Amino acid sequence: MNLKSIKKICCIGAGYVGGPTMAVIAKNCPDIEVEVVDINETRIKAWNDTDLNNLPVFEPGLSEIVNDVRNKNLTFSINVEDSIKNSDMIFISVNTPIKKKGIGAGQTSDLRWVESCARKICKSAKGHTIVVEKSTLPVKTAQTIKDILDSSNNNNSDECRSFSVLSNPEFLAEGTAISDLVNPDRVLIGGDDLVAMNALKDIYIKWVPEKKIIFTNLWSSELSKLSANALLAQRISSINSLSAICEVTGADIGDVANAVGMDSRIGSKFLKAGPGFGGSCFKKDILNLVYLSRYYGLNEVADFWQETVAINSWQQTRIYKEIVAKLFGNLADKKIAILGFAFKENTNDTRESPAINICRNLLNEGAFLSIHDCKVNEETIDKDLSSENSFDKSMWAYDKDVYTSFEGAHAVILMTEWSIYKKLNWEKIVPVVKQPFWIFDTRLIVNPNQIKDLGINLWQLGNGKNY
Ligand code: NAD
Ligand code: UGA
Repeated sequence: MNLKSIKKICCIGAGYVGGPTMAVIAKNCPDIEVEVVDINETRIKAWNDTDLNNLPVFEPGLSEIVNDVRNKNLTFSINVEDSIKNSDMIFISVNTPIKKKGIGAGQTSDLRWVESCARKICKSAKGHTIVVEKSTLPVKTAQTIKDILDSSNNNNSDECRSFSVLSNPEFLAEGTAISDLVNPDRVLIGGDDLVAMNALKDIYIKWVPEKKIIFTNLWSSELSKLSANALLAQRISSINSLSAICEVTGADIGDVANAVGMDSRIGSKFLKAGPGFGGSCFKKDILNLVYLSRYYGLNEVADFWQETVAINSWQQTRIYKEIVAKLFGNLADKKIAILGFAFKENTNDTRESPAINICRNLLNEGAFLSIHDCKVNEETIDKDLSSENSFDKSMWAYDKDVYTSFEGAHAVILMTEWSIYKKLNWEKIVPVVKQPFWIFDTRLIVNPNQIKDLGINLWQLGNGKNY
């Protein structure tokens, strides 16, 4: 196949990965037509909205790029099959959540959306098509995709069709997606067809230095993605477990993280203690690793990784218990302000956000919650709080203004590290709250010096001076 022949790319899945990734490809490859397709019509409408504040994904820098390339060489559409038909390269960027029912429920990924993509590609693709796994997938999924695509050779079609399957996992983090895509640590391309691998490399090389583009076989590529997320999540569980030791010994987790992070073998990044990792991927990707290990009889390996998830749940539970204890063991009829609902700053995503579990537990104790977030809307919070238990809107309120959430509150919990929460005017807050008032800072963003003479209490995660 001729490398110059990539004229049109189709990306199936217009989510947190598909949208930003394709916007950056379109921006850097003006000669390639990039079409992002999705079965979710509302999402596609939002990507096409003339008001860029309504894009379905909030990422710093994204709306500027979309504004630049949309309807030039970047389009968003619901015409999945037409797009497949006309494309030389197809990225599969659909959701791969944990299975809810059946074999592997609660452990391995539900691949129904990936399989559906493979079947649509098998039905509609023309000529030679390069199929790229962009979704994070269990190791060996490329074989499933190949098997489905190979079945097209048995179709009663006169046309000569062929496929190459590549793995090209995405390593962007939400909140920094655009800078991660523009300046990635590496681009990983896994495959067994060097021509197809070079065709994909040819796209990235337009803006990524060649030494950062690495080739492996399919299985190393699929496993590297799961491994990277597992190692990152493990670091967070490690520092969070140490935060609990700090609280009971008089040590300070900020000081400990700084001291250990200065060891160049450990490094300073990803050592911030917090309420536990959220986001749609860490938990599911570790659980996939656990499932894979058990499948191959590696039970000790499975147990090792399982503990990373267990510590993460424990961290959320212990914070909630600490709050209840400090508020005299009773939350009934108490108003608590919740600052932040997103799983981290600079995103509107709440999937697996620690705020969900902590808020549900507080509601269960009878508290009334006054919730603020900089980018998450009321509808999303409602969905998150009502999905498993029926915590209806009489039990919590959505506050557009951060300061009104404090009126008559007995406590505030800082859940997300949005920058405006770092600059709160506590002198303005104190007169409107109930006494005794507690600040529960799960993100270590309150400066204790700023509140020390204001007659309010501060509990900070991992701070041994709390006792
Ligand atoms: P998402 O849920 O935001 O988006 C997935 C989109 O795929 C949805 O809009 C859905 O409607 C669409 N879709 C599903 N089946 C479809 C089909 N058959 N045809 C057309 N559209 C279909 O998910 P996401 O966060 O973008 O994640 C996608 C994948 O990327 C996952 O495997 C995830 O693990 C991986 N990943 C995510 C991130 C992240 O930061 N969110 C980072 C790296 C990798
Ligand atoms: C993570 C990885 O960082 C990406 O490389 C990966 O591509 C992505 O998962 C994925 O596969 O989905 P993301 O979940 O978007 O990205 O965001 P992170 O910055 O990794 O944060 C994850 C969670 O860990 C957040 O809840 C964050 O608050 C928490 N965290 C992160 C900490 O508590 N402490 C830290 O030091 C860093």
